[in-house]
Amino acid sequence: MPYVKTPRKLAASPNFALCHAADGSPFALGEVEPYAQFWLNERERMLLALFGRKGGLMVERAITALLAMRPASNTAAERRRIERAIAEMIAAGVLHEPADELSRYGKEMARDYLEHRPFPTAIAASIAAQSGLGEQSRALDLASGPGSLALTLAERTPHVTIMELSRGFVATATEEAARRGLVLEAINESCNRLAQHDGTYDLVTISQALHWLDDIAVCKGVCRVLAEGGSFVVIHAAMNLPQDHPLSWILGDRTPLGDKAQVPFVQSARALFRRLSLLFAALDAPQVERHDPQHARAGRAPIVGAGIALYHQPRPMGTGFARAFLSDSHLATTGLNPQQVWKRIEAKCGVASEEALQASMDWAVLHFQRGATSFDIESWEPETPQVIAYP
Ligand SMILES: C[S@@+](CC[C@H](N)C(=O)[O-])C[C@H]1O[C@@H](n2cnc3c(N)ncnc32)[C@H](O)[C@@H]1O
Repeated sequence: MPYVKTPRKLAASPNFALCHAADGSPFALGEVEPYAQFWLNERERMLLALFGRKGGLMVERAITALLAMRPASNTAAERRRIERAIAEMIAAGVLHEPADELSRYGKEMARDYLEHRPFPTAIAASIAAQSGLGEQSRALDLASGPGSLALTLAERTPHVTIMELSRGFVATATEEAARRGLVLEAINESCNRLAQHDGTYDLVTISQALHWLDDIAVCKGVCRVLAEGGSFVVIHAAMNLPQDHPLSWILGDRTPLGDKAQVPFVQSARALFRRLSLLFAALDAPQVERHDPQHARAGRAPIVGAGIALYHQPRPMGTGFARAFLSDSHLATTGLNPQQVWKRIEAKCGVASEEALQASMDWAVLHFQRGATSFDIESWEPETPQVIAYP
């Protein structure tokens, strides 16, 4: 067992939420791929609660507290069972050390991400203009990655916050803000817990990430934090690689990582817009009074869909892009040998011409606003996407 008996602190992983089966049995359910389940006995459920306090708890204090709550006739034997339970919870990822990386995206890919997957400048400018972002505005970028969009917003206002699971990405975003002389606040936490955070924002953004999250929990959180007149902007994206592109075998439509759903991009944007509009209609209903503080609302008017904009961005995709896209743990969880994959990527991209590396991204910017006039998604006639430059 990996449990080491030295005094140290552990915390409950924000990647897991406590759930109960129909018969009341507790289990911790992974909210981040690979969506693992870990069934808890009574002792483990209490440990989860103890280590779940903000900032975690020293192991020895948790053991003492648990022994006090569940007195046993043989304390030494019970202590061994508790230690074993802690070891198993660590091995399953349910408990972690405060410094552990919680995301499959880590510090090692953060620089490649900033350089080779920058957020489109034209879209960032359009979001800032549309939401009326000014020096006093408060903005929150959810699942920010290493901060490409948030850093652009931080050029316009000193009140930008990121909420991101990866410690490595948070560290890089914060370093990069300091290097550029910008103010950036960071919350290293799962965005599924947004409803448990205080704060009020005039702009909340989420780019290329909602599909990883519990969108009901995120929308509940947005209801809680979005100010009167505030905008919630969801950026949905898809990449297009020609079949003979050097990376199509790993990032194309049918790859060892899985097959992509063959839904036309505009159709997927429309479906997402419809789903989020329905979620807001259900969750942000001003006439329904709830006493649960997680149902608090930062504004009085309802949040409604306000519009969709489409963009098409031709761009190169080479080894750097692949490095910003695939971490070794992404590859390993699909059963691939990361070293072999990187060797093949480098071999193929290394000999490819600039022209052969050309690919493109489709972007849909879904705008929701508290108090806007509702946009009718059913009669939406998509315009031709605006072609934008890279980055
Ligand atoms: C594809 S990246 C998108 C990053 C950035 N928004 C962008 O558009 O470039 C997905 C991000 O979601 C983050 N993420 C995944 N699950 C998360 C969660 N539950 N809470 C917060 N961030 C999460 C990952 O760590 C990663 O940074």
